[in-house]
Amino acid sequence: MKQELFDLLPELREISDSDLQEKTIKVWQEAIKGGGWKIEDLTLIPFTLLIENISVNLIEHTRAVAMCCAEIAAALEKMYEGRVTIKKDYLLAGALLHDVGKLLEFKKEKERVVKSREGKLLRHPISGAALAYSLGLPQEVIHVIAAHSKEGDGARRSVEAVIVNHADFLNFDIFKL
Ligand SMILES: [Fe+2]
Repeated sequence: MKQELFDLLPELREISDSDLQEKTIKVWQEAIKGGGWKIEDLTLIPFTLLIENISVNLIEHTRAVAMCCAEIAAALEKMYEGRVTIKKDYLLAGALLHDVGKLLEFKKEKERVVKSREGKLLRHPISGAALAYSLGLPQEVIHVIAAHSKEGDGARRSVEAVIVNHADFLNFDIFKL
């Protein structure tokens, strides 16, 4: 399944720390297993259930958020050289994992994707963070997952979490129009 995940999410290869890359893949694998999905389901899962008939799947959304994060980080570092520190590996791993909890929040019912019982109780930032915690991801990455959505609004987000939060909403709001 590892090779298939690299094919689906080529940005995984850009995580330079091999241990972090391995653990990021592990979270995806466990979320797939935990949610009862097959690898081929991943491109059929809508990235959100909040926009009817959305044409963007979870993999496309995850990749777009990761790409936006990398570009935002590059622009900020270019302009604010020496005044902003962005940990690229944490940013990328956090971006690639920010919505992994949706594999637990959603379930397949007949041919439709709907909210699972778990999803009604624990939204994806919580289940994703819990899964990442159980698999030993760095706290900086768990923080990005936990704080990327409205759940993190009361928290003091790290710079990496701020970037993922904005990149995520950017990739949501443009489809809400
Ligand atoms: Fe997202």
